[in-house]
Amino acid sequence: MSSGRLAGRVAIVTGAASGIGAAIAARYGAEGARVLVVDIDETRGRELAEKLEGAEFQRADVSSADEMSAVVETVRTRFGGLDVLVNNAFATSFGRVEDLTDEAWRHTQRVSLDGVFYGMRAALPLLVARGGGAIVNIASISGLGGDEGLGAYNAAKGGVINLTRTVALEAAARGVRVNAICPGLIDTPALQGVWDLVPQRRESTKRSIPLGRFGTPQEVASLALFLASDDAAYVTGAAIVVDGGLTARSGVPPLTS
Ligand SMILES: NC(=O)c1ccc[n+]([C@@H]2O[C@H](COP(=O)([O-])OP(=O)(O)OC[C@H]3O[C@@H](n4cnc5c(N)ncnc54)[C@H](O)[C@@H]3O)[C@@H](O)[C@H]2O)c1
Repeated sequence: MSSGRLAGRVAIVTGAASGIGAAIAARYGAEGARVLVVDIDETRGRELAEKLEGAEFQRADVSSADEMSAVVETVRTRFGGLDVLVNNAFATSFGRVEDLTDEAWRHTQRVSLDGVFYGMRAALPLLVARGGGAIVNIASISGLGGDEGLGAYNAAKGGVINLTRTVALEAAARGVRVNAICPGLIDTPALQGVWDLVPQRRESTKRSIPLGRFGTPQEVASLALFLASDDAAYVTGAAIVVDGGLTARSGVPPLTS
């Protein structure tokens, strides 16, 4: 019999082969959950699943409704149900809006927004059948404001936050809690991709974070664990930042020395 804050629970984590998703899958596993690790990266996804007790890997592209339905079918048949869905996989594109191609725009929406919709739509009946559960959508502080060069991502993540609120309302009476996490700048391969584009901005960006450093995937996983657990029994429809204080500023310059 497993122990921990998620003992006996079943969780799906998408985009779990790397970064924040991998940290969440590992944390859930350590807290007693059986985790279905979902990613398009088969090698790293399998590697992680092999390290977690009771975990399995399934290759799936979240932008495919059929593949997300198959993922949910796997936990039904292999694990006997579902308690927690974490929609974490994403894609982005960089460039001013007038320079974005149709394909760059669509790819970002397909993976980062459609994928969250497909995941929730497929999982809800199984969560309800269990008498309730939790959905944790990994959004971003980029869903709360705009960023020059990230329009497609801003639109998708803003959509994830508001869709989270809608599903929280629709599912509340059936015992399913739905929340979004808005990470700030978290040290992962994806953030490294940003520094590859603008290496000269790395240090000044770090200095602009009130806590003075980038976050770790484990710090996001701590919030994802709370939201999945019974400790968050009264939390639904929330979009919670974990950003070292980055979005706390109004923009007025500091008036203290
Ligand atoms: N790192 C940050 O600073 C940061 C900030 C805010 C929000 N986020 C969000 O956190 C989440 C995880 O980001 P990360 O930094 O850990 O990224 P990452 O690049 O380290 O990991 C993303 C994972 O998603 C997988 N993936 C990509 N497309 C997929 C698809 N179509 N289907 C299934 N899996 C797919 C990748 O293979 C990879 O394993 C994302 O939703 C991202 O928007 C990250």
